[in-house]
Amino acid sequence: MTWLITGGAGYIGAHVAWAMTEAGERVLVLDDLSAGVPDRLPTSIPLVQGSSLDGALLKRVFAEHSVTGVVHLAARKQVGESVAQPTRYYQENVGGLTTLLDAVAGAGIQRFLFSSSAAVYGNPDVDLITEDTPCAPVNPYGETKLAGEWLVRAAGRAHGISTVCLRYFNVAGAASPELADTGVFNVVPMVFDRLTRGEAPRIFGDDYPTSDGTCVRDYIHVADLADAHLAAARRLTAGATGDLTVNIGRGEGVSVRELITLIGEVSGDTTPALVEPRRPGDAPRAVASAALAAEELGWHARRGVREMVESAWRGWRHHHPEAARG
Ligand SMILES: NC(=O)c1ccc[n+]([C@@H]2O[C@H](COP(=O)([O-])OP(=O)(O)OC[C@H]3O[C@@H](n4cnc5c(N)ncnc54)[C@H](O)[C@@H]3O)[C@@H](O)[C@H]2O)c1
Repeated sequence: MTWLITGGAGYIGAHVAWAMTEAGERVLVLDDLSAGVPDRLPTSIPLVQGSSLDGALLKRVFAEHSVTGVVHLAARKQVGESVAQPTRYYQENVGGLTTLLDAVAGAGIQRFLFSSSAAVYGNPDVDLITEDTPCAPVNPYGETKLAGEWLVRAAGRAHGISTVCLRYFNVAGAASPELADTGVFNVVPMVFDRLTRGEAPRIFGDDYPTSDGTCVRDYIHVADLADAHLAAARRLTAGATGDLTVNIGRGEGVSVRELITLIGEVSGDTTPALVEPRRPGDAPRAVASAALAAEELGWHARRGVREMVESAWRGWRHHHPEAARG
């Protein structure tokens, strides 16, 4: 087996590339480096610089490297940007996927793994989100992930490709400081960023119907997420057919206030949070049922939230030496 990992120089993709390589899989990476960092990858993993929207390049790469499976992570992923530029998001995340799937089918590749997101669910009013919870995304980013899933499953059925869609919940942490998320789009780096500038972390709304009034989320360590990709890849290699769509979370909720308290303990900066008005579109609670992943992939998360925050803080300080405390 040779796996092509699109977006493999990105935050999650590099963790997947390392985890699969360390487990003995042969991988190569395709990344246009629009957000990726080549130094995240060891020199033993070939990196092709180019776009997953480039059909001719894909055809060449598949043939030259005898690719037998694809892990597709390359995408635009910023919710706010997707609201401002919906056509770009549909063009790259959905239109681009048609090119990739055509190339996969044309090359006779029979295994395909797709990065989806809890954003496909929107804001369901349930205690635990199962894979049967209706999907009702509330922004173009989530819509492109849901349309992407439909496309992956339809192409799988039409061309005999076995597929897995992984719906990630809130990803945080780093397996090593060099691999850390360098963007400031998720809550953990957003809080680190505020503290590093000497500003108070912000909580958007503390009057939600949750235990402490702040929003509750399911945080998953990126190293556990990478292991889930390995488990899914192995399932496909073992001959699983058809399609599987599965949540990747811990099945445990953590409130924003609990998270900020933990960040204070880990960083040594306990500046009290500022409470600001609710943001439109934030669900009070979004926690995965992790049962199907355990059943189908034999996978469950092993790392807790403290370990996530500690590893994320080491990564943040690696990339921001000015964040001296902690
Ligand atoms: N980070 C999260 O919390 C989260 C949650 C749910 C789902 N996801 C999904 O996981 C995937 C990876 O996210 P990430 O956080 O690692 O983001 P990231 O921006 O760090 O990684 C994306 C990578 O894809 C590359 N890329 C983008 N467009 C490309 C293209 N057309 N061709 C080739 N390479 C391209 C970028 O250079 C980057 O290296 C995305 O599909 C994202 O939607 C992320």
